[in-house]
Amino acid sequence: MDVSGKVALVTGGSGDIGRAIAEALAAAGADVAISYVGNVPRADAAVEAVRRIGRQGHAFLLDQRDPASIERCAGAVLARFGRLDILVNNAAWNIGIPFRDLDTLTADIWDRVLETNLRGPFLLCRAFAAELRRHGAGRIVNIASLAGLAPSGSSIAYAASKSALIHLTHCLAVALAPDVSVNCIAPGLVEGTRMAERLPEEVKQTARTQTVLGRTGSAADIARLAVAWCQADSVTGQTVVVDGGSPVGMR
Ligand SMILES: NC(=O)c1ccc[n+]([C@@H]2O[C@H](COP(=O)([O-])OP(=O)(O)OC[C@H]3O[C@@H](n4cnc5c(N)ncnc54)[C@H](OP(=O)(O)O)[C@@H]3O)[C@@H](O)[C@H]2O)c1
Repeated sequence: MDVSGKVALVTGGSGDIGRAIAEALAAAGADVAISYVGNVPRADAAVEAVRRIGRQGHAFLLDQRDPASIERCAGAVLARFGRLDILVNNAAWNIGIPFRDLDTLTADIWDRVLETNLRGPFLLCRAFAAELRRHGAGRIVNIASLAGLAPSGSSIAYAASKSALIHLTHCLAVALAPDVSVNCIAPGLVEGTRMAERLPEEVKQTARTQTVLGRTGSAADIARLAVAWCQADSVTGQTVVVDGGSPVGMR
């Protein structure tokens, strides 16, 4: 698919990786809606970056823990842009809780992580499914994590949410075929991001020392692959790891 002239929504575009994806889609010729939940200055900066590239950009408030907010955001995006071709489920939330510290992982934290990282992406896919099918070539790209493939990452809840997001990718690839392809990217540690800052230091140290390339994954590579998933016409239900080549990510 030629991304040029298409309209994309990148959830969490106010975040580090989301902004990189929004800019890469704009550079490929797409108009880009981004969402944010609280950080207006970062959302404005991402929109400005899209506009500087010469494409339309706009920021939408979205709390994806809240089904009503998802419906409102979907309506606002379609009202503003008139169509949607690409949904990038990038927004997520994490908190650093060592795996052995089971008592700190409360039911409330579990629910916040799962609602944000799993239920939210599903409800967004559902809200946009008819629109993505309408042109016969919709694209969904889910941003999961290496933590969804191997028991690692910021918390057990986060790892479970990302593992389920990878399987949701498989299920939706079946559900939305042949009109919509659904693929996934599983980043390992991306240093310099807000999310990486919330990881326990021992997790970061392990990620740094395990990569065979001697460097961790980059937001730029994730963004390039997100565009590639949108351009691909015969791939669905797949996950690619971006992590500098750690053996646990090699399957
Ligand atoms: N960074 C890493 O090392 C790493 C590694 C593996 C996977 N990932 C995945 O990559 C993606 C992007 O990560 P990142 O590092 O760019 O994270 P980030 O900078 O923390 O950005 C997170 C984004 O999600 C939004 N968000 C948080 N809670 C939300 C909610 N309830 N409803 C809607 N939006 C919400 C934030 O909005 P505000 O800005 O308004 O708060 C922000 O735009 C995530 O899916 C993450 O799990 C990241």
